[in-house]
Amino acid sequence: MKILVTGGAGYIGSHTAVELLNAAHDVVVLDNYCNSSAVALERVAKIVADETGRPAQLTAVEGDIRDRAALDTLFSEHDIDGVVHFAGLKAVGESVAKPLEYYENNVGGSITLCQAMQAAGVFNLVFSSSATVYGEPPEMPIREDFPIGVPTNPYGRSKLMVEEVLQDLARSNERWSIALLRYFNPAGAHVSGLIGEDPQGIPNNLVPYISQVAIGARKRLSVFGGDYPTTDGTGVRDYIHVVDLAKGHLSALNWMQGNSGVGIWNLGTGLGYSVLDMVRGLEKASAREVPYEIVDRRPGDIAECWADASKAAAELGWKAELGLDQMMADTWRWQSMNPDGYKKQGQG
Ligand code: NAD
Ligand code: WQD
Repeated sequence: MKILVTGGAGYIGSHTAVELLNAAHDVVVLDNYCNSSAVALERVAKIVADETGRPAQLTAVEGDIRDRAALDTLFSEHDIDGVVHFAGLKAVGESVAKPLEYYENNVGGSITLCQAMQAAGVFNLVFSSSATVYGEPPEMPIREDFPIGVPTNPYGRSKLMVEEVLQDLARSNERWSIALLRYFNPAGAHVSGLIGEDPQGIPNNLVPYISQVAIGARKRLSVFGGDYPTTDGTGVRDYIHVVDLAKGHLSALNWMQGNSGVGIWNLGTGLGYSVLDMVRGLEKASAREVPYEIVDRRPGDIAECWADASKAAAELGWKAELGLDQMMADTWRWQSMNPDGYKKQGQG
């Protein structure tokens, strides 16, 4: 199949592009590089050529999902079978300061993309949603049939809004086949060390922060809260290896071959690790110390969050295979091979 990957130069998109190309799909990436580098796509092509022994069928288009004319041109030039839609803004704190940018990119951009898809007769869509749509769930693990919660920030609300737009769209025309994938906490990197998470500025998320402390780029980790009702008092999350997550998108595309309407799946491991588990995991992988101090809780954080991943296993035949040790070893390989991320090559 020929798959359009919006935001395909980004962290999850680049890993998904590798898996799609390895599975012999053709990939067209549309990205405006607002939070990524074109170098990531060169690396994707190299990984695929190394792993498969054939050149990657990858086309990179620089453009914006909010640009309807650019989308129409793309769909007219490429016979697209389905879209995996990652493009959007994802920094929770920034979304509080810049809500209009978040709603414009994430909600407006998704609507423009769907309009262009509809006009081009493309009705298969995989959407990057988030466990954040559950808000503060009543119990763990989180199942897909839990009531939608109240996300505590504009980023989370933008994901919820897009989910609702897509539900309405599927009701309007039975040709649509839409997968809403609710990611838990993606972490890790490709085993080659060539692609990984490359945050701009101070990382918002735990794992890139810890790895920057281990490499010496940051002094110490601030652990947000040591008094949660968890095993060691620190927050617990379901960290999923980004390669497992990427493979979940292929499983969703396969589901679309015989199904229409909306399917909703958690992509998580079903396991919860604390902040201190993650610190110890990276210390082990890097053989370096990760200094930390416990500080106040971060507003909007919940104590714990992990998935019931059985629906994806039953319906998509997908489950996470890679454990914490592999996730941390891959994180460290990426960090140590690319201490400045993709900027090492003077780009991005
Ligand atoms: P990322 O920032 O690395 O990737 C997003 C990509 O989209 C970037 O390459 C960026 O340049 C591009 N982009 C942004 N706005 C665009 C626009 N208007 N037009 C074209 N390209 C645009 O983020 P990621 O971690 O790979 O996340 C991918 C998706 O998954 C996002 O939608 C994010 O909200 C969602 N998600 C991420 C996480 C996470 O923790 N990383 C968790 C749940 C959901
Ligand atoms: C994980 C744990 C923190 C940083 C966010 C978004 C969510 C999704 C994934 C996009 C928590 C603790 C963190 C630090 C810390 N993103 N922490 N010190 O908050 O679970 O989820 O990213 O969709 O929508 O909300 O992930 O990596 O920020 O935090 O102690 O410097 O690490 O308190 O317990 P989170 P995270």
